[in-house]
Amino acid sequence: MKTRNKQKEEFSWAKDCLEQQNYVLLTDVLKHIDHDSIMIDSPKVFKKVTDTFGELLEQYGNSVYHVFPKTTLYSANSAKALWPHSDRNEHPEIKMIAGLFCDNPDRFDQGGYTSICDMTNFISSLSEEVKTYLKTNQFTIIANTILKDKGASHFHGPLLHEFEDGSFHFRFSYNLTQTLVDDYRFLSFRDAVIQYYNTYKIVIKVPHNGLLLFNNHVCLHGRTDIADTNRSLYRLYLKG
Ligand SMILES: [Fe+2]
Repeated sequence: MKTRNKQKEEFSWAKDCLEQQNYVLLTDVLKHIDHDSIMIDSPKVFKKVTDTFGELLEQYGNSVYHVFPKTTLYSANSAKALWPHSDRNEHPEIKMIAGLFCDNPDRFDQGGYTSICDMTNFISSLSEEVKTYLKTNQFTIIANTILKDKGASHFHGPLLHEFEDGSFHFRFSYNLTQTLVDDYRFLSFRDAVIQYYNTYKIVIKVPHNGLLLFNNHVCLHGRTDIADTNRSLYRLYLKG
């Protein structure tokens, strides 16, 4: 009982933290989960997490997606570094929390680090002209062929959406936003995003049994190359 109360306190602290700073890292998550419910592809997984943080959203027919280096194509499932991006861009959810649960971290020093950057100050510092450009133009973020085969689709629409309460949605992919080589307006905006990201990102190696949660359309995220082919984590999306 004591443990349960302690866990409830920790999760409630983490929920506050996520709401206030848009990301939180929970360590030793499995100690909070009933051992008989640890079946990674079951909707029951992370029940306690989802009870606290939001309901699981389906991704490619499953509730949880295994991120494991197995392809050379640019995607979460390659061993290559991932440039700053938001996930699940083609979906219209108002608020969405992404989670990365790690069961086997990269054993090598430089490998498999996740970086994350809250873009709130960057977005609020943009001129009205740039905001209008991002809010009114149609951009395309492409889904690669592997993801298309799983049912993903390209995103077509504005990159920025501002809500009346002052919050915003920012959709972005450094590599997968379609652009022309002479589209200097978008290219210089993209460079500004990367410069801000590299200045203010935090870098985390999600530990064994750790769960990193972040507000997907407020924070961008990226990853260093995976050096250890046994590196394994599970991605979940929660309705915020
Ligand atoms: Fe991602």
